Amino acid sequence: MKSPALTARDRLIVALDFPTQAKALALVSVLSDSVSIYKIGLQLYTAAGPAIVQAVAATGAKIFLDLKLHDIPNTVAKAVAAAGELGVQMLTVHLSGGGAMLKAAVEARPPHLSLLGVTVLTSATQETLDEIGVTSVVADQVLRLAELGKKSGVDGLITSPREVGLLRERLGAEITLVTPGVRPSWAAADDQKRFTIPREALQAGADYLVIGRPITAAPDPRAAVERVLEEMAG
Ligand code: C5P
Repeated sequence: MKSPALTARDRLIVALDFPTQAKALALVSVLSDSVSIYKIGLQLYTAAGPAIVQAVAATGAKIFLDLKLHDIPNTVAKAVAAAGELGVQMLTVHLSGGGAMLKAAVEARPPHLSLLGVTVLTSATQETLDEIGVTSVVADQVLRLAELGKKSGVDGLITSPREVGLLRERLGAEITLVTPGVRPSWAAADDQKRFTIPREALQAGADYLVIGRPITAAPDPRAAVERVLEEMAG
């Protein structure tokens, strides 16, 4: 899936964090020619189901289904295959599900589907790891899981802008790195604490940027996309 010829437009993923299909589709219709990939996460998928994936895909856009799968290998493999049949192009799995689960997921994915591994959620702290009996420091756990993902054959990783440079350096050029927590220079931080601007994330080695509210909550979402694309390309 890696292609050095990707344009800014190819690299932008807009997060459709909406409660209903109607709200999500209203935004997609406004952005129709300017966005090529949308992220559908747990909230929208739980509310609207496979129909929202099909409806967005019918506009010609690619779908990143962010379900962060984590279950027994057989169940995850079946869910990966089902997402492939739905026409999804990117799907997340928790790397902490372990090597057997990841290998089952990798084997079950069709060629058009990229599996992206989640390391340690950025909401997790050292205390969170302690609570679940993980004794490593967060940074070591991120690296350990990222390396497990690469060894298991996942196509890419979700990474915070803080870690993208290190993961690119350690894991090489081939792995796809997808980075949320990005804020254009003109946008509000919202609840993002350790964000970077689009250009910095790309320069540090990100392949794709996930951006939600600076676009979805903008008074003119189409103009916001154009400004983000200019900043990415600039
Ligand atoms: O609105 P905003 O640009 O903050 O949205 C970013 C998207 O990326 C949301 O869907 C959020 O859940 C997701 N995300 C994130 N930080 C992470 C992982 C995922 O912001 N560490």
